[in-house]
Amino acid sequence: MKWIETIRNVFRAVRDNRVPIFWIGSLSLLTAGFLFLFYASPATDIGPEQPIPFSHRLHSGVKAIDCKFCHPYVARSRHPGLPPVEKCLYCHAYIIAGHPQILKEHGYYETETPTPWVKANFLPEHVLFNHQRHIKKNFVCAECHDQVETMDRIKGKRFKMGFCVQCHQKNQGPLDCWLTCHS
Ligand code: HEC
Ligand code: HEC
Ligand code: HEC
Ligand code: HEC
Repeated sequence: MKWIETIRNVFRAVRDNRVPIFWIGSLSLLTAGFLFLFYASPATDIGPEQPIPFSHRLHSGVKAIDCKFCHPYVARSRHPGLPPVEKCLYCHAYIIAGHPQILKEHGYYETETPTPWVKANFLPEHVLFNHQRHIKKNFVCAECHDQVETMDRIKGKRFKMGFCVQCHQKNQGPLDCWLTCHS
């Protein structure tokens, strides 16, 4: 039997060549480990994990729901606010009502727990920022928040003073820092 002979030859080769086999084995393991770290390790370029995997890409992108439907106070108050559960159930009482993530949303509703959304944007505490005047000047959301409608998870930003000042210089915004922006 020729093929049995072949296999036997392979085993003989392995036995006679322990050293190269050892190196080839270790190298393969190292490569596999590297590939694992490279492809399977948690991504760091997306936003914080949310209690419910809410996707802006799906809702504002694909389904084209207006930002202001969920963030209605953005032009009126200092805090645009994140939507209460009722907003979600407005649609999800009917749309994919049995989806496990929507059932979770029902849980929050029934126990009157505000959904514990994780904040993605940060502004140092001593900085005064108000959406109102900016929206009135017709700046679009993307000017400061990038294309939220393409993001499954909002990455958010730590807003730095340079970002504010640059635009104020370009667009005749106030530059008297201590009176306007810092309290
Ligand atoms: C169907 C409701 C809904 C719509 C429509 C929607 N959002 Fe949101 N938005 C949320 C929820 C829920 C959160 C909190 C969870 C998260 O960060 O993903 C949020 C969070 C955010 C945040 C991050 C807040 C922070 O600092 O943590 C920004 C910025 C934002 N939305 C902007 C937008 C913009 C711009 C649009 C329109 C392109 C939009 N949203 C449309 C529901 C919505
Ligand atoms: C204006 C209607 C509307 C509102 C408001 C709305 N959604 Fe949705 N949502 C949809 C539609 C449409 C889909 C797609 C359903 C499908 O896949 O058939 C969807 C899908 C989803 C999914 C499933 C995504 C997946 O990967 O399968 C989740 C989770 C979800 N929404 C969460 C939320 C949360 C949380 C809120 C409130 C902040 C919310 N939705 C508000 C219309 C809405
Ligand atoms: C001129 C820049 C600018 C524009 C334009 C802008 N935002 Fe913001 N937004 C910010 C900053 C800065 C913060 C962080 C504020 C904070 O943490 O107090 C923020 C925070 C938010 C938050 C989170 C608020 C919270 O309560 O945690 C939401 C939601 C949001 N913006 C939605 C919007 C939407 C929707 C639009 C468009 C209609 C918009 N923003 C346009 C700068 C901007
Ligand atoms: C996209 C351009 C742009 C960016 C980015 C921007 N601003 Fe402004 N901001 C303006 C303009 C233009 C005005 C003047 C508005 C007016 O005259 O009504 C203004 C006005 C203001 C005012 C005075 C009006 C008010 O709301 O009380 C403050 C305070 C302010 N900005 C703070 C900030 C801070 C803090 C940041 C950074 C987190 C920031 N801005 C980022 C364009 C911008």
